[in-house]
Amino acid sequence: MEVIIKQGQEQASLLGARIVRNVIERWRPAVLGLATGATPLRLYAELVRMHREEGLSFRDVVTFNLDEYCGLSPDHPASYHAVMCKALFDHVDVAQDATHLPDGNATNVPEACAAYEQLIREAGGIRLQLLGIGHDGHIAFNEPGSSLASRTRIKTLMNDTLHANAGAFGGVEQVPRHAITMGLGTIMEAETCLLLAFGKSKAHAVRGMIEGPVSASCPSSILQHHPKTIVILDHEAASLLEHRQYYLDAYASKPEWQRFE
Ligand code: GLP
Repeated sequence: MEVIIKQGQEQASLLGARIVRNVIERWRPAVLGLATGATPLRLYAELVRMHREEGLSFRDVVTFNLDEYCGLSPDHPASYHAVMCKALFDHVDVAQDATHLPDGNATNVPEACAAYEQLIREAGGIRLQLLGIGHDGHIAFNEPGSSLASRTRIKTLMNDTLHANAGAFGGVEQVPRHAITMGLGTIMEAETCLLLAFGKSKAHAVRGMIEGPVSASCPSSILQHHPKTIVILDHEAASLLEHRQYYLDAYASKPEWQRFE
């Protein structure tokens, strides 16, 4: 894993946006895996700025989101579909039929999940998968105990996750108990993974992901087996890392062209 520690969220998000931009400019189509949650919002805002002010075009971009709640209509304000439209899709020139999210209202869930995986394959696979991390080390909605080889499927959300997402629903009781999520095996097939984590509340999960044993108890730790994962942290999220100083020195000593800046 390449661990990059930036001063704060702002610098980390801008660096993340530059990495996404490189992929968009290099590939036709550029197949992006996208994440929701608060973490990538600043990165999306920077992509919108690049589109408006610097002419970054999303015409050849195809997107697949990690997950979606079950039982919400796509226009429910807390659905990940609505969140993505508000944060990114409505503000750039991406084709509507090039943006994909799992169907949280599918009547035949296994069939819908298999179809989602098939769509990703037909698009040629994901070049860059954006990720955040939950307090318990989950990525997408792969809660602790998820098979490390899991594929897109329905998952029951844990209490901690329901509480963490309650704000968007006006109370924990309103948060859907189930979601459709890409599996860990699905995520591991992305060519590059780019995970962002900010704040003290993520420090424990970040340590488990980077320096803990590979275990279904900390699902993100599977990324230790991924050949090209970049993790961008702020100082607080990095605060429990045993080899923190090493990561800082290693990145600082890289030649400029390897630093994505
Ligand atoms: C949810 C999402 C994840 C996200 C996580 C952390 O569980 N399914 O994709 O990474 O929340 O969210 P936040 O970035 O708001 O901390």
